[in-house]
Amino acid sequence: MTSKKTAQLTEKFAEVFGDADGVATFFSPGRINLIGEHTDYNGGYVFPAAITIGTTGLARLREDDKIRLFSVNYPEAGIIEFDLSEVKDKVEGSWGNFVKGMIVMFQGAGYTIDKGFELLIEGEIPTASGLSSSASLELLVGVVLDDLFNLNVPRLELVQLGQKTENDFIGVNSGILDQFAIGFGKKDEAILLDCNTLAYEMVPVQLWDYSIVIMNTKKPRALTESKYNERFAQTREALKRMQSKLDIKALGELSNEEFEANTDLIGDETLIKRARHAVYENNRTKIAKAAFVAGDLVKFGKLLNASHESLKNDYEVTGIELDTLAETAQKLDGVLGARMTGAGFGGCAIALVESDKIDEVEQIVGETYARVIGYPAEFYVAQIGDGAKKL
Ligand code: GLA
Repeated sequence: MTSKKTAQLTEKFAEVFGDADGVATFFSPGRINLIGEHTDYNGGYVFPAAITIGTTGLARLREDDKIRLFSVNYPEAGIIEFDLSEVKDKVEGSWGNFVKGMIVMFQGAGYTIDKGFELLIEGEIPTASGLSSSASLELLVGVVLDDLFNLNVPRLELVQLGQKTENDFIGVNSGILDQFAIGFGKKDEAILLDCNTLAYEMVPVQLWDYSIVIMNTKKPRALTESKYNERFAQTREALKRMQSKLDIKALGELSNEEFEANTDLIGDETLIKRARHAVYENNRTKIAKAAFVAGDLVKFGKLLNASHESLKNDYEVTGIELDTLAETAQKLDGVLGARMTGAGFGGCAIALVESDKIDEVEQIVGETYARVIGYPAEFYVAQIGDGAKKL
């Protein structure tokens, strides 16, 4: 973050909370997922990276037990204020829930949070973009609490407390992909994570003449949470049915062949398709990571396309907006591959684009999108950055 921006936010903090004496600054990124979608809660591999856009926070302890929050993105909401004794009360539609949820989870894990604080945030991640604005906020609050209360929470635990907030406080059955990428991200490195064991490997992002372009559908928020929970339930049910004969703990343990030989155990076309995506996507992610490490971006790009197709036809989480972006890009000269990233139903797609052709690709995809969908998409070139930290 530029010092100019820090200075502006410090000024804002003083304006909102009286003065800015003793404030500390924190940053938590968003993430893209290169491949391995809807595999995390199915015990499979994911291959994400943190990006340089994210959420910045300025924080300071108080002597009483009041928590006072302000978002530069929602100035009309004013200061959100509650006492430490009220952290369990969720308020529908308030971003303060992420702060409350993290405090509840920290306390539940035995960490002492016994004072109030002030927190001012500014988010750069478009909401509902599939770039994890919520996990970015969770981990921001995580590093703030860790620092203000001198807790030294191990990184993996911080990540897990973020996921627990999402699951048990916010109510989305998400896997660990987002919080892990945001907690463990490193500049110019992607993370291959086995969500079954949490073993991970940092992989240098070496793209030569190519760049990752993020393409935002800007689709107004769809019923992402409820449809997400439905997919979660469907793959759990398919697993349960397969477990009647197979000794497996997760769909991520199956090869494509083992899966196909046992689909009759599931016995329902929709559930078979959902589980097929989870199994194939997991195996595809392992191959894709190997191609990426070997520098075979052509092969990697083809696997991105195959991932999108599977998310479209078998998992059915894309929709016309994401399909228009990804499929238009896939056909263009200079594009090695494209796919949706994140939960889907809207949000963003990513494309692997020859750096010299970025303008041309953005123009053609942008025109097609506006014509088919009726409003413009947005494009950004992704930079891979560090995970959540105090600045
Ligand atoms: C959302 C969830 C993640 C993951 C992705 C899909 O981002 O928060 O846990 O399931 O969707 O891969």
